[in-house]
Amino acid sequence: MKKITLAANWKMYLDESSSIAFIDKLNADKDLFSNKDIILFPSHACIRAVKDRLNVSLSIGMQDCDMYAKGAYTGSTSINSIDIDSCIVGHSERRIVYKESDNVISDKLNTVLSSNANPILCIGETLKEKNKNLAVSTIDKQLSILPKNLKGKQLTIAYEPVWAIGSGDVPSNQYIDEMLSSIKNRLKSLYSDTDLQNIKLFYGGSVDASNVSELLNVELIDGFLIGSASANFEKFKDIVKQLKL
Ligand code: PGA
Repeated sequence: MKKITLAANWKMYLDESSSIAFIDKLNADKDLFSNKDIILFPSHACIRAVKDRLNVSLSIGMQDCDMYAKGAYTGSTSINSIDIDSCIVGHSERRIVYKESDNVISDKLNTVLSSNANPILCIGETLKEKNKNLAVSTIDKQLSILPKNLKGKQLTIAYEPVWAIGSGDVPSNQYIDEMLSSIKNRLKSLYSDTDLQNIKLFYGGSVDASNVSELLNVELIDGFLIGSASANFEKFKDIVKQLKL
């Protein structure tokens, strides 16, 4: 049985004291969280505090990074500013709220691939695109930025339909399976078998304790990118409890 990864995208939900309070509860429940494949994504400003407080061996990531690694970029955060395991790029909130283009996301992806961290590239169609039968062409376009050379890194593609994020509206397993199959076919046309072994597929969008066990039946899913339910310790714990490994 494969080990499912949970990526906890805390977005801008938790300030420093709430992040520390979350970690204190997690430390107190060490037996449940140990040996799980979990990546916590605190706000940039809280990463240091989370790393210092954590007593369980989990991974830590950045929710986004600058496309440049160093220089005169006021207010931005370099992928190299702190030692982390992975970094999300292309989240729909970055694409929509901050108007990040595929070009910008491509630069960020390459910056992460050149760092010590592994990238998680988010893709997904809006409701309008879905209703116009453009879901597959939308994700194909978003995947067109993938570089040939993955530099030996582990790449994760997080399929997150925009209409499912924060809405409680989770696609059927069949829909997710069709979309992940289409992503997988695209990846097969781009990469060698060796590279493919280093690529994971996640689903994200309104994942919580009420739907995770059903979603686990989608065989192509290697993990979940979880937003609001991951920023509440009790809700997150209820999800973790349902992992078989
Ligand atoms: P959600 O967010 O779980 O709150 O829907 C998921 C995401 O945006 O990654």
